[in-house]
Amino acid sequence: MHLHKYEKIWLTFGIGSLIVFLSVLGYGAFWQGTHPQSHGVTIDPNNIESNEAFKPENLGLTQVDDDKYIVNIAASAFYYDLGKDEEGNSVKHIRIPKGSTVLFQVATKDVVHGFNVAGTNVNMMVEPGYVSSLETVMNKPGTYTIVCNEYCGIGHHLMYATLEVYE
Ligand code: CUA
Repeated sequence: MHLHKYEKIWLTFGIGSLIVFLSVLGYGAFWQGTHPQSHGVTIDPNNIESNEAFKPENLGLTQVDDDKYIVNIAASAFYYDLGKDEEGNSVKHIRIPKGSTVLFQVATKDVVHGFNVAGTNVNMMVEPGYVSSLETVMNKPGTYTIVCNEYCGIGHHLMYATLEVYE
């Protein structure tokens, strides 16, 4: 079989870059322990309450400093548990003042769920056995929909909440 000179150059280049990319990936994954940011903390999916953040009384929005908030969320099919309000109703809407630093911590009790604050960079996969967390600054006022963007079953589309950033 005769290979044209340019064809050889392209083949060498193509296979070469494949080897380079796979080596970088393998080095990062196996020697540097690189993994998704959300995989830092493990949790027992059958007992997420054993983690302080996911005790029923600690779910939802908590102000921890002047402009610092933590939002703890227990995800399960097909619901985000954001705690209860004063009347004992489930919270579906949280309000945060503009410019606040917010730490979202999410854990799932059953299957893989998503946690996406639509229109922001808050977008996490929530896997059983891990706490997914992400800190961000909410600078743009508005009402955002929090959606589950990992298909989790027949009620997947019912899994949402809202987050309001106010001036
Ligand atoms: Cu939870 Cu889709």
